[in-house]
Amino acid sequence: MFIKVPKGTQDILPEDISKWYYVEDIIKEILNKYGYKEIRTPYFEYTDLFVRGIGESTDIVTKEMFTFPDRKGRSLTLRPEGTAPVVRTYLENSMSRISKVIKLFYLGPMFRCEKPQSGRFRQFNQFGIEIIGTQAPAADAEVILTALDVYKKLGLKNLEILINSVGCKKCRVNYILKLKKYLKDKNDTLCSECKERYIKNPLRVLDCKKDNCKEITEEAPVIINNLCKECELHFEEVKSYLNGQKIIFHEDPRLVRGLDYYTKTAFEIISGELGAQNAIAGGGRYDDLVEELGGKPTPAVGFAAGIERMIIAMDQQNIEWPLKEELVIFVATVNEKTQERAFRLLQKIRNTGLSADMDYSGGSLKSQMRIANKIAARYTVIVGEEELSKNMIILRNMQTKEQKEIKITNLINELTSCIDSM
Ligand code: HAM
Repeated sequence: MFIKVPKGTQDILPEDISKWYYVEDIIKEILNKYGYKEIRTPYFEYTDLFVRGIGESTDIVTKEMFTFPDRKGRSLTLRPEGTAPVVRTYLENSMSRISKVIKLFYLGPMFRCEKPQSGRFRQFNQFGIEIIGTQAPAADAEVILTALDVYKKLGLKNLEILINSVGCKKCRVNYILKLKKYLKDKNDTLCSECKERYIKNPLRVLDCKKDNCKEITEEAPVIINNLCKECELHFEEVKSYLNGQKIIFHEDPRLVRGLDYYTKTAFEIISGELGAQNAIAGGGRYDDLVEELGGKPTPAVGFAAGIERMIIAMDQQNIEWPLKEELVIFVATVNEKTQERAFRLLQKIRNTGLSADMDYSGGSLKSQMRIANKIAARYTVIVGEEELSKNMIILRNMQTKEQKEIKITNLINELTSCIDSM
């Protein structure tokens, strides 16, 4: 029996890779337009970064991390998300010295040991942005607008924006007391996970997907009514920036997100096509994380989006993939004797920047023509013994099936003019 791909992971096969190139190109184009610079951090970090960054009692840290020791026994973890690593590198490379506000983006695989299901993987790809160094509400609005711009360019429709404010250290203390008071006599009826959340992280009870817990918390006090003046004003301004751009959003007072670092704005973008795993992007403000990871108090805001979920939603919406047509030249040989010369010509064609290929299986001219058709070659250069003796080759237009003999020395010029006239 052969070994299969690990549970929750998937191969991206050659026939699908052009979708990924297309999506990644659009992401980079839009993020460049907004002034974000790409950063690439390692796929694994010291475990402590995520424990301190994401929060000890979160599902990600308690249940979903791929953690392993290195040879010296230091605990490493495959990155489950990109924000904590970006803040680590921001601090490690003293980026605040480069500029007061830094705008970064990343794109790549993340790892979470979750129960796999449609749209939920153990290795998945995110693109994300982080603006570090400003508490301006305009920055919160900008991250949402950036995500929407990417989706718009890709043609994705039917998206809903949910926003909330989860307050700051100051207002959350009072709110959590209120919430605990409300939940106190209902504690026994909560699910076992929520009983634990009640002790370690009561805010997360609001995020429970179980019907019973949802019912219990229906009448619970909401943080939005318990914000301090500063958080309230900040939230009003974020909404006003979004309204100014005619963005339709819904306030969701129960949106608390699964990572502990959020302060003030929290948001999710959901897609009608995705079923249970409907969050296509999520993010918000995290004004305490830089300090939590050892830096000076520095406000920040960002989001990340799942690329697999974007591609699934695009396919469900039957969005056409504008796949790049490459001009391929195929080089065919009539027998082994002409192979060496054909190979030299093949490299010469490639050196001009054209995409070219030949078949090494030693098949007949007929079978080589089949391959040429399969790879959608526009022209085939047929290298025959008789023609070679006259320093000629045959150039075949694969669409019109017309063939002509041309001088080898004219081949590149001929191919270039054929392409120019297309
Ligand atoms: P998150 O909500 O955990 O936030 O993930 C962001 C997005 O990644 C989700 O909305 C979803 O599209 C995708 N995603 C998450 N888990 C999976 C999975 N198992 N399979 C497929 N896709 C998944 C964060 O990661 C934060 N770091 C976002 C952020 C950046 N906040 C501030 N800056």
